[in-house]
Amino acid sequence: MLVRPNEIQKVANMFMNAVHEDEIDLLNDLYEALRSGDIEKADRLMDEFAVDLEDHFSTEEALMREADFFGYPMHKADHDNMRKEFKKVYDAWKERKNPKEVLDFLKEKFVPWLKLHVAQWDSVTAMHIGD
Ligand SMILES: [Fe+2]
Ligand SMILES: [Fe+2]
Repeated sequence: MLVRPNEIQKVANMFMNAVHEDEIDLLNDLYEALRSGDIEKADRLMDEFAVDLEDHFSTEEALMREADFFGYPMHKADHDNMRKEFKKVYDAWKERKNPKEVLDFLKEKFVPWLKLHVAQWDSVTAMHIGD
């Protein structure tokens, strides 16, 4: 397992927690497919993850705009950095289908980023938005 649900902090908005939990499930499925060398399945899950990540970020951004959240530009900038990082890995995957590149990214970059991002930004945002 790449990441356990309890490793990601719960925030004060149930919808955001549900989005995070679904993403963790998908990440773990992608991780297993990559580790077992099931390229076809991993490819499908990479596409699903690309859509899921964009949904995750744009949903939070819409919630922040509706609630006039003061931290919107900073929170969105952190999403935008990850959008760029992920796009590089996604494009490299489409070109080379090298599981190790994606596995390294997930373990060394994405999961540590997600933990920190949720603790730093999503939690404050959720407190502002409420449930
Ligand atoms: Fe989030
Ligand atoms: Fe976020």
